[in-house]
Amino acid sequence: MEIGIGSDLSSKYRTFLYTNSKGKEGRLANERILRKLAYPDPGSQFDHKIGPMKYLFRAPTKMRVLMPIAMQLMMPGAQWFLQREGYDALMLGLDDRIIAHSAFQVRHDIRYGARALHVFSVEVDEPYRGHGLAKLMGIELVGLARSQRFPSIRFGAGGHTSMDSIIGHLAQRAPELGVRAAGNNYVDIVYPPRSDGIALAQQPL
Ligand SMILES: CC(C)(COP(=O)(O)OP(=O)(O)OC[C@H]1O[C@@H](n2cnc3c(N)ncnc32)[C@H](O)[C@@H]1OP(=O)(O)O)[C@@H](O)C(=O)NCCC(=O)NCCS
Repeated sequence: MEIGIGSDLSSKYRTFLYTNSKGKEGRLANERILRKLAYPDPGSQFDHKIGPMKYLFRAPTKMRVLMPIAMQLMMPGAQWFLQREGYDALMLGLDDRIIAHSAFQVRHDIRYGARALHVFSVEVDEPYRGHGLAKLMGIELVGLARSQRFPSIRFGAGGHTSMDSIIGHLAQRAPELGVRAAGNNYVDIVYPPRSDGIALAQQPL
């Protein structure tokens, strides 16, 4: 798939969901999530939701030696909280590292009265920026939403140029990807019409 990144990088990356990660990948994913819990994007909804709990996670993220202990002690509770609130993240791995993630929450899309993806944080580690990885994760999220029969993905809540660029990129490839930019940061997943002509996204799930 042409994604506009160097072929050496595009052939080596892999994506997986935080909630499905196990073994070494699971440990790396937990470390990354622990950092996001400790330092959420200031002022974001996630920041408000996690509240003062974020300070609990700060010491272990600063001291590498505390990370394994913190993960044993804190992660079960953190995972319970994240799962209960419908949070998950698409992780992008390269070699033995995780180099990017897109965090989302499964939320109600009131336009369809159905559960959908709300992406609230996209982050690519600095050395890997500018290679189309954020856009690539956008495409992977379309596949994820489709596999769950979700009607849409919302990329942020407005005001982030990079989220707008991801939406613009998906819109450019709309026929090929089977999506539709629906305004207000929504990208709708287009499903083949049923025999009675009702689009799947319009059916109650
Ligand atoms: C924003 C970020 C995720 C982009 O990742 P990336 O892999 O370099 O992005 P891509 O190469 O796929 O490019 C995506 C688009 O976003 C644009 N973009 C990249 N960084 C940007 C930034 N800091 N501000 C605005 N737009 C940006 C690119 O120009 C590109 O648009 P284009 O194709 O129209 O030129 C990355 O710079 C990052 O992690 N930044 C810190 C966290 C952040 O700001 N996240 C965004 C909102 S939650």
